[in-house]
Formats: sequence, C-alpha cells, structure tokens
Amino acid sequence: MQLAPPTLGLLIRKHHAMSKSTDLSPAATSTAYRYGTMQRSLHWTMATIILIALAIGLYCSYLGHGSAQRQFLMDIHKSLGMTALALLIIRIPIRAATSEPDWRHKPPLHERLASKIVHLALYALMMLMPISGYVTSSSEGRKVPWFGLFTLPNLLMENRPFGRMVGVIHHYGGYTFFALLFLHLGAVVWHRLIRQDEVLSRML
Ligand code: HEM
Ligand code: HEM
Repeated sequence: MQLAPPTLGLLIRKHHAMSKSTDLSPAATSTAYRYGTMQRSLHWTMATIILIALAIGLYCSYLGHGSAQRQFLMDIHKSLGMTALALLIIRIPIRAATSEPDWRHKPPLHERLASKIVHLALYALMMLMPISGYVTSSSEGRKVPWFGLFTLPNLLMENRPFGRMVGVIHHYGGYTFFALLFLHLGAVVWHRLIRQDEVLSRML
C-alpha cells in the first residue's frame, strides 16, 4: 500500500521520537552532544593523576635504586596509581550504563572506529598498570603506602622472580601507555586545530 507523503512523514517522526526515548538513558539525554558530568569529572581527574604517575614513573627509571628521592617519588607514584584504580572501578559501571553523547556532525565510520579502539586500549591499560604495579611491589615484598596516611594490605606472598616478571609487563605497559596517549592527544589536537569540529567540546 502506498502512503501519502504527510502520513509517511508523521510515521517517521513518531518512530524517531520513540527510538530516542528508548535508546538513550536519562543521563545521556540530559547531556546531549556532551559526556555527562560524572564522566567528564572522572576523565579529567584521572587524566591528571595518570599523566603525573607516568611522568614520575619515567623519571624514577633514571634514578638509582635505593636513593631517598626515588623512594619518596615511588611512594607518590604508587599512591596516584592506586587512586586511579579506585576511580576506574567507579568509572567503568557509569560508562557501561550510559551511551555515548550524540553527534551534531557524525565523523566517518573509520574515525569513530579508530577512536573506539584507542579508548578501549586506554581503559585496558588503566586497569593493567595499577594492578601490575601492585603485584610487582607486593610480590617483591615492598610496601604500597597511600600518601603517607596508611599502607595498603599486602595480599600476595613474596615471590621475587614472579614480581620481576610482572615488573616487565608494567615497564612495557608504561611505554604502550605513552604511545596511546600520543595518539589520543594527537587526535584531539588535530580535531581542534585542523578539523575544528566538536570532539574536544564533548569532553569539556
Ligand atoms: C596508572 C597507573 C600507573 C602507571 C601509568 C604507571 C607507570 C609507570 C612507569 C611509566 C614506570 C617506569 C617504567 C620503567 O622504566 O620500568 C613505572 C615504574 C614503576 N611502577 Fe608504576 N605505574 C602505575 C601504577 C603503579 C602502582 C599502583 C604501583 C604500585 C603499587 C606501581 C609501581 C611501580 C614500580 C615499583 C615501578 C618501578 C619498576 C622498576 O624500576 O623496577 N605503579 N610505572
Ligand atoms: C590531557 C589531555 C587530554 C585531552 C585533551 C583529552 C581529551 C579527550 C576527549 C575530547 C575525549 C572525547 C572523545 C570523543 O568524544 O570521542 C576523550 C575521551 C577519552 N579519554 Fe581523553 N583526553 C586527555 C587525556 C586523557 C588521558 C591521560 C587518558 C588516560 C587514559 C584519557 C582517556 C580517555 C578515554 C578512555 C576516553 C574515552 C571516554 C569514553 O568514551 O568513555 N584521556 N579525551
């Protein structure tokens, strides 16, 4: 049966309105074109913590083992890393429960796919780095303090060869993190300066 154009238009609008109300959670609809407040706060807090932890980790790799400065900085590194892990545990369910914000002008599929892959890899490293750091420290019998306020419980038996092995994962994970952040920040700068599109404003 052929529908007259006004009837067809009405049906399309009705279908669009229905799919809007079912596809998007309230948190996402209230912040259309932008990540929700919680996601933005967690992104920027964790970005700051992780960038400082990475810089300290890198700097410490040039310091002699056992020096007082290295000890002091490593304690801060561990505290920041464990804080990032605690925030990630809050962030993942929030992210899983909300959809991505809508686009005003959707970028091509290959760009959205590439950013999805980098974001997923960043989430994986945000999980892997603190866990491998904790396992290295604990199984080598070293303490994991939290900003001098208390010491986290050591859940592992001392096993130095295992600790060293996981330390290698932490080491290469750190360099992979730098490479992915280079891509992530490069993409943001490119979108902002060359494309001049909405990508950065979605996270502001
Ligand atoms: C977001 C979290 C973290 C990031 C991005 C990170 C990154 C790094 C980087 C880049 C290094 C220097 C790599 C090297 O040259 O070996 C490093 C070293 C280290 N990190 Fe982490 N780290 C994180 C969390 C942690 C945590 C939570 C702990 C412990 C509880 C930890 C313990 C260590 C230790 C012990 C080293 C020195 C390894 C060695 O020299 O043998 N890290 N980290
Ligand atoms: C400091 C400079 C940073 C800037 C300017 C920045 C910017 C952005 C922007 C604009 C987005 C949204 C992209 C989109 O709408 O598709 C985003 C998403 C994301 N960023 Fe960053 N970012 C920074 C640092 C970091 C750091 C250090 C991490 C650490 C892992 C990180 C992890 C992520 C993740 C995982 C997402 C995906 C969010 C999601 O969809 O759940 N960012 N970032």
